[in-house]
Amino acid sequence: MLLEIKQYGDHVLREECARVEKVELEHNTLAVNMLETMYAAQGIGLAAPQVGLGIQLVVIDIPEDEEPAEKITVNGEQKDMRSIMPLVFINPELEPYGKEELCTEGCLSVRDIRSQVARPSRVRAKLYKLDGKVLEIDCGGLLARCLQHECDHLRGVLFTDRISSAAKVTLAKRLKRMLNLGT
Ligand code: NI
Repeated sequence: MLLEIKQYGDHVLREECARVEKVELEHNTLAVNMLETMYAAQGIGLAAPQVGLGIQLVVIDIPEDEEPAEKITVNGEQKDMRSIMPLVFINPELEPYGKEELCTEGCLSVRDIRSQVARPSRVRAKLYKLDGKVLEIDCGGLLARCLQHECDHLRGVLFTDRISSAAKVTLAKRLKRMLNLGT
């Protein structure tokens, strides 16, 4: 089932999301619907607040053609990034590290705006899957960026909060217009 993607200006995008203390059937249903919604919108990541729910649940699916050679470490073993996709997790613990890199980001909740964002290039992450398994991941590349972007959503932070002040000036009018369109 396709869900409505909340847009910039919606208060739910600014909430501190609650931890998922007990996984229920509804969380599995939600994850399936979020993946379907994300694929339909041609995104690579979607966080629960983006569909109106203030809980710490995220779905990610980075296609192979985006980053064919990316190797990551999962629970101490080298794996192909694709082997853990689609990735559904709750209550993430993230530790970004390494040199900051600039990369262009967009967001399904901030339509039509893309901008350069500086973030650490690597991430160590502890992700809890819905079946109770834990993934400890060490990665760089697009997955590291995507994990940071999606986990920001769980704390009410949008990529537009992280862009340089010069770029903010350029985008200010458009962002303000989006706020006026929001409810
Ligand atoms: Ni986003």
